[in-house]
Amino acid sequence: MDHLIEHTVSYVKQTLENAETGHDWFHIERVWKTAKKINLEEQAAPIVVELAALLHDIADPKFHDGDETIGPKMAQEFLEQQQCPADIIEEVLHIIKYMSFKNSFETLPYRSKAMDVVQDADRLDAIGAIGIARAFTYGGYKNRVLYDPSIAPMSYDNKEAYKNSKSPTINHFYEKLFLLKDSMQTRTGKAMAEKRDRFMQQYLEQFYAEWEGQA
Ligand code: ADP
Ligand code: NI
Repeated sequence: MDHLIEHTVSYVKQTLENAETGHDWFHIERVWKTAKKINLEEQAAPIVVELAALLHDIADPKFHDGDETIGPKMAQEFLEQQQCPADIIEEVLHIIKYMSFKNSFETLPYRSKAMDVVQDADRLDAIGAIGIARAFTYGGYKNRVLYDPSIAPMSYDNKEAYKNSKSPTINHFYEKLFLLKDSMQTRTGKAMAEKRDRFMQQYLEQFYAEWEGQA
């Protein structure tokens, strides 16, 4: 099985070679490491956790005209080529299909312990110091302003509204990042999320103080 992980690492590295900074190989590597750490306590099947972590962003729908089926399709083809057992493929595909934040507006038809682990690891990468960096990178890519005190954060009740939002990057903290802590499924994930969440709150306190010329 170690062989399969090695091959998967090379495949993902190669495929994401020109990926934008939010979903590049380093994002995958961080999620992979964090998932392994969380799984020390959770004890889901390590092969499923690792494969799902490695393959979860193999094709970002944002860069494929919103097509959410390309990623799972690519993962399936790759795993079949590698002669990975069918039951493992099935579990991995379920995880990567259902774990994105955008899907959490709907009730998920599928959950598993391995999915909890990988989803927590992926969400952790959106908060804390790295999460802040990723948010501003994304905002820059989308030409969004850092902050505009006259635009209040919104709450989104559907997937389309969330995807089409044009709000300033600071609003993203309230619209998504501060919500992630309460969506953690594992004990280790929750503890890590709490720490990262506190860090973001401190960051914003300093940000607003500087905005007013007060710090
Ligand atoms: P994920 O990989 O967690 O499923 P996304 O593809 O939604 O997440 O986002 C990738 C990164 O870009 C995340 O760190 C996320 O917080 C950030 N991001 C997504 N939407 C916005 C936004 N509207 N403003 C700022 N950052 C965003
Ligand atoms: Ni991800």
